[in-house]
Parts: sequence; C-alpha cells; structure tokens
Amino acid sequence: MSSIVAVVFEYIQAFLILIYYWIKALGSTLFVQKIVKNVENDIILITGAGSGLGRGIAKRFAYYGATVILWDVNEKGNEETKRQILADYPRTKVYSMKVDLCDRNDIYRVAQQVRNEVGDVTMIINNAGVVSGKPLLDIDDVSIQRTFDVNIIAHFWVLKAFLGPMLALNRGHIITIASSAGLFG
Ligand SMILES: NC(=O)c1ccc[n+]([C@@H]2O[C@H](COP(=O)([O-])OP(=O)(O)OC[C@H]3O[C@@H](n4cnc5c(N)ncnc54)[C@H](O)[C@@H]3O)[C@@H](O)[C@H]2O)c1
Repeated sequence: MSSIVAVVFEYIQAFLILIYYWIKALGSTLFVQKIVKNVENDIILITGAGSGLGRGIAKRFAYYGATVILWDVNEKGNEETKRQILADYPRTKVYSMKVDLCDRNDIYRVAQQVRNEVGDVTMIINNAGVVSGKPLLDIDDVSIQRTFDVNIIAHFWVLKAFLGPMLALNRGHIITIASSAGLFG
C-alpha cells in the first residue's frame, strides 16, 4: 500500500514540476525576449539536428545570427535542416556534418573537422536522443546499448572534444536536453 502511495506522490510531484516549468517557459516567452543573450559571435553545435527539436533549436539560433553546426547520423534530415535555415536566413554560416554518436572515434574525427573548418565551439546542445519505449524484457540488447550510447555516453565524448578550448577561452555553454519522463523511472 505504501508503495502505491509513493508512486502516486511521485506522479503528483512530477506533474507539479511540469506545470511550474510550463508557466516559467510561458513567462520567459512573453516577457523576457528582450534580454535574450547575443549569440552572433557564438559557434553552436547541435546534436540530432536532423529533425524535431534539434531542427527547431538550430533554426532559432540561426534566426539570432549564430553560426550553427548540425550533427546527425541522418544525413538527409540534416541536409533538410540546413536547407530550411538557408531558405529562411540566407546569411547564416551553417555546417551539416554526418556523425554517429554511438561511435567515439567518429565523434573525435568530426570534432577535428569542426575545429579545422569552423573554429572553437562556444555552445554545445546535446539534443540527440533515442527512445525505445518498451518494457525491459521486450527490448533487444542492441537498442539498450544504443540508448545508453546516444543519450549518455556520447555526451562525455562530445564534451571531451570541445571543453578544452572553452576553458581556455573562459567562455561556453553546455546544454543537455532531457525529458520529464526521466522523473518517472
Ligand atoms: N519529442 C518529445 O516529446 C520529447 C520529450 C522529452 C524529451 N525529448 C528529448 O528531446 C530530444 C530530441 O527529441 P526529438 O523528439 O526531437 O527526437 P527526434 O527523434 O525527432 O530527433 C532526434 C535526432 O537524433 C538523431 N540521432 C539518433 N541517433 C543518433 C546517433 N547515433 N548519432 C547522431 N544522431 C542521432 C536522429 O537521427 C534524430 O534526427 C531527445 O533527446 C529526446 O529524448 C523529446
């Protein structure tokens, strides 16, 4: 019985947290737009930029004048994001690069390409994520491995690749897109 009460309490708690952030986000959208950070001199790396939220984030930063680097394993989706950005904001410096976040060597290789071709990244948006949405016993091992590789381990490799210059510049932001679903685990 007490475990049911605990679960119900957790659901209520998570729901209240969600409501709080929704109201906060609405307030920011309506009232705080004017003090938005100037990102015109920022080089922003967005993982999982080939669709969904990543594409939306990339387009928003392009709107604000940032240089955007699009990383995704889905080359076609990534190119489509680039196309949309250039259609709406033709002067944007936008780079689309194919990366498999499950592969540490691929991350390091393309990070080197970023440094050579674009410069020092000043903002990382760890957005790429995979969700299987199945009970543990129904998920195949490969999917479990991929979930951890993309959603967790890749963050360490990406950070290792770009943190040094950020520290040297004493400037940088690291953002991780998570999910309120994590509260229910
Ligand atoms: N959509 C939602 O309702 C929701 C809710 C909560 C949290 N999120 C989180 O927001 C983030 C974005 O979600 P979304 O709905 O836009 O997802 P999405 O599936 O539309 O986009 C994820 C992107 O990540 C890319 N990706 C997957 N594996 C990759 C790999 N190995 N290497 C490189 N790129 C890879 C995919 O190709 C895809 O373009 C995820 O981290 C997700 O967990 C989403």
